[in-house]
Amino acid sequence: MDIKKLIEEARKAEKYAYAPYSNFRVGAALLTSSGNIYTGANVENASYGLTICAERTAIVKAVTAGERDFNVICVTSSGKGFVYPCGACLQVLAEFSPHIRVIVTDENDNYCEYLLKDMLPNLFLFDK
Ligand code: THU
Repeated sequence: MDIKKLIEEARKAEKYAYAPYSNFRVGAALLTSSGNIYTGANVENASYGLTICAERTAIVKAVTAGERDFNVICVTSSGKGFVYPCGACLQVLAEFSPHIRVIVTDENDNYCEYLLKDMLPNLFLFDK
């Protein structure tokens, strides 16, 4: 899969962010092992703690469509510099795909690639 295409999809999703409190819009595009792309944006709330990040929006959309194996997630934002997923989103990604690649972008769509296991080396997993 072309990383540029994933960035494009994340940028498109970013437009649908609901971020009236922070004015910080985030988009995410999640590529599944079956080749499908699920996108998400952040959805804020007047009760700030109820805000949902773009990454988790995309993950929940994918999981509720029957997909649980993810290869790549790409994150874009309206901010300057590279924007990284928060710890909560890394943990939720780890639940499904500890091997996932994480692509972060800056305002010019330059990108850096990481492995989730390097970003969150001691993730919490529970024996099912
Ligand atoms: N945000 C995300 O959507 N993803 C992240 O990884 C970091 C933060 C959102 C949450 C909130 O709506 C805004 O960015 C500012 O924190």
